[in-house]
Amino acid sequence: MDRRQILRQRSEEIIFTNQTAGGAIIACPSFSQYNYSWFRDGAFIAYAMIRIGRLAEAERFLSWGNRVVISSREKIDALGDKLDKGEALSIRDFLGARYTPEGEEDESDWPNFQIDGYGTWLWCMAEYLKAADLSELPGVWQTGVELTIRYLRMVWQRPNSDCWEEFPDEVHPATLACIYGGLKRISPWLDQEGNEEGGTLEVFAEEIKSFVYNNLHEDGYFPKYLGSDLVDASLLWIALPFGMADLKDPVMVKTVELIEEKLLEEGGVKRYAEDTYYGGGQWIIHSCWLAWYYYESGRMVEADTLMEWVIRQQKDDGSLPEQTTEITNEPPMVKVWEQRWGTVATPLVWSHAMFLIVDQVCSESRSFNYTRFEKEC
Ligand code: BGC
Repeated sequence: MDRRQILRQRSEEIIFTNQTAGGAIIACPSFSQYNYSWFRDGAFIAYAMIRIGRLAEAERFLSWGNRVVISSREKIDALGDKLDKGEALSIRDFLGARYTPEGEEDESDWPNFQIDGYGTWLWCMAEYLKAADLSELPGVWQTGVELTIRYLRMVWQRPNSDCWEEFPDEVHPATLACIYGGLKRISPWLDQEGNEEGGTLEVFAEEIKSFVYNNLHEDGYFPKYLGSDLVDASLLWIALPFGMADLKDPVMVKTVELIEEKLLEEGGVKRYAEDTYYGGGQWIIHSCWLAWYYYESGRMVEADTLMEWVIRQQKDDGSLPEQTTEITNEPPMVKVWEQRWGTVATPLVWSHAMFLIVDQVCSESRSFNYTRFEKEC
């Protein structure tokens, strides 16, 4: 077996062994801070499951999330009451981003008010419904979906931590893209006879998109957060998979150029230029994401180079880390974090999921090009 095949096989094993019987997916089994199931990681991992045809496992994760949301109903109601009455809010009034496998919130001090995962979860659910060829949203999910939408309507414009648990006082375009993508994709399943929620969701999604486009950086790119000059690799999500911008939208193109200029180095992609977490190294998920963007844009050679870099990062046992620490923004911070939390999280299940997703994108874009090539001949 070559290195790519080994990585495929190990990635599948790692994904499935880290899913609990109840459907939760542990972000990294050997890193205690990541012994939780995140809506964000889990949704992308479940999407990888869908792409490799393991629908039952994806359904289990989605149902786990649905139970978590339904059990948060009182919290959502209470938040609505407080907002109606104009009462002061605390961080505990919002839903968490990560939960124990049993669905308990993480009560530690690590920031947990992040809303992107709820959009990502809705998006993944729509992908599942399509893959499973279902024409109706299962009744048991309807309640969780409606509660999630109600919650997102209340919070979408509020500052909350970005997808890296950082910058809690800012509003992040990548986060809003997750919500846009979730609403857009799930809306047809709510648009059943007698239910107009689907149509109003479209309007809501467009409102989010306009808000982001009205708050671009003055140089015409998506900023890491509103008012920032920085870019962040998670801005790629705006195009893929959430489609809030087309691949060729000049704003997206400019954002990608900046990601290439500031964050891409020798095949690996960093999160953002000022990142110091484990020094701020190159992340597997981002190299996969940029490769995804390249494959969809027909930039096959650059895409392949990134995927080859990813394949080279697997350890002897085929596991992928969260990030590598050879090339970092701030090398002394590697040790600081190792002393604080241990070595870089490995295997990071999300890294394996992104590899599997983009590995598939790679094969599909090749067969697509081949068909086109045949036609052209
Ligand atoms: C990242 C999150 C991720 C978590 C678990 C954190 O370091 O900032 O985006 O959800 O790890 O993978």
